[in-house]
Amino acid sequence: MKNKLIKINGISHTYDEKNYVLKNINLEIYENEIIALFGPSGSGKSTLLHIMGNLMKPVSGNIEYQYKPINLKTGFIFQSFNMIKELTLYENIKIAQLKRGYDEDNEIYVFAERTGVSEYLGKYPSEVSTGQLQRAALIRAVVGKTETVLCDEPTGALDTENKINLMKIISELSSERTFFIVSHDNIIKDYCDRVIMIKDGEITQEV
Ligand SMILES: Nc1ncnc2c1ncn2[C@@H]1O[C@H](COP(=O)(O)OP(=O)(O)OP(=O)(O)O)[C@@H](O)[C@H]1O
Ligand SMILES: [Mg+2]
Repeated sequence: MKNKLIKINGISHTYDEKNYVLKNINLEIYENEIIALFGPSGSGKSTLLHIMGNLMKPVSGNIEYQYKPINLKTGFIFQSFNMIKELTLYENIKIAQLKRGYDEDNEIYVFAERTGVSEYLGKYPSEVSTGQLQRAALIRAVVGKTETVLCDEPTGALDTENKINLMKIISELSSERTFFIVSHDNIIKDYCDRVIMIKDGEITQEV
């Protein structure tokens, strides 16, 4: 039986107290699965992701997590990488690991090896390719023993080859953690255990 990791209970959200951009979202997320959330622009995907990652509070509803603290156990990957440009890839990753309470260079080196960026760790974000940047962002999201990685259009800036590379690595890493991926990108569906559709703030379909 799969272990439940996150339980979303009746989340609703509005930014203007008029239009609800999320309407009574209920969802269970299990350990070690890759879930994709698909839906049109403006359907509420990023809003839900931010609420799940505790970046903002919903107007109503709640989320139960099987781990604590949520902030330190959640990694993020964004479409535009969000690397700190003044720091090398290694330093970007190291800061996240330290903040999560770990100081294990070996963990960084092992993930760098697995994702093929070992030789780029000492470089600055401006000195590497977009594919390499996104793999470094993935390492940053997993080091320090995160439980859940929330991804907002992680393949949006990548070409097809790099998209497939990234999703293969995510598939491998999902034996140890859960990935929740917001996307428009059909390529990623092949790598997900479940695909959920959202429209106008409501989950319409689960495949
Ligand atoms: N900070 C904000 N203030 C006001 N309205 C917002 C804010 N963020 C999002 N919205 C609105 O909430 C709705 C849902 O936005 P959200 O960003 O969650 O959609 P999305 O599905 O992620 O879209 P996209 O695919 O374009 O990224 C949209 O109508 C958007 O305009
Ligand atoms: Mg979005």
